[in-house]
Amino acid sequence: MSELSALILDRIRDVPDYPKPGVLFKDITPLLADPVAMAAVVDELAGLCQVDKIVGIEARGFILAAPVAYRAAAGFVPVRKKGKLPAETLEESYDLEYGSATIEVHRDAFTPGDRVLIVDDVLATGGTAKAAMELVERAGAEVVGIAVLMELGFLKGRERLPDVELHSLVIV
Ligand code: PRP
Repeated sequence: MSELSALILDRIRDVPDYPKPGVLFKDITPLLADPVAMAAVVDELAGLCQVDKIVGIEARGFILAAPVAYRAAAGFVPVRKKGKLPAETLEESYDLEYGSATIEVHRDAFTPGDRVLIVDDVLATGGTAKAAMELVERAGAEVVGIAVLMELGFLKGRERLPDVELHSLVIV
């Protein structure tokens, strides 16, 4: 295991029965509160590939994606839950365990051909990342990668993203 993986795993807290009984929640707030670990994570994500824009996914994805954009000297584009973006949007819906969710991006968020890295905190079922990727492509940009702090390997989200480079700093 790399030094960075060990640092990350040491600062992710398991919270049993959140948000509902039987779920073991992976809480990243101890990592966010540690400036050394946070800087190492941001530097690693910013060094993955050269891009024009970093896309962050609301809400926890924003926490990582914005400093990564700054570090990578790239623009930041928010993908938000439906109804939060003010100008004209594109939207994608995806299935959740119960029901569905819809995310949006501004239609004019990208310059045609922009190279984009999508950043989020966690890849679970992969539904959010896949919908974000479709949004970015429909908006005229090229997704060169998806990067997450943590991949929940047992949920097999990676299998829903066969056509893109997926970078996970840790797989649990
Ligand atoms: C979490 C997480 C990812 C997504 C991963 O966000 O931040 O965006 O779920 O799940 P998936 O791979 O199964 O789609 P959540 O929707 O809980 O929103 P939040 O960041 O606002 O808490």
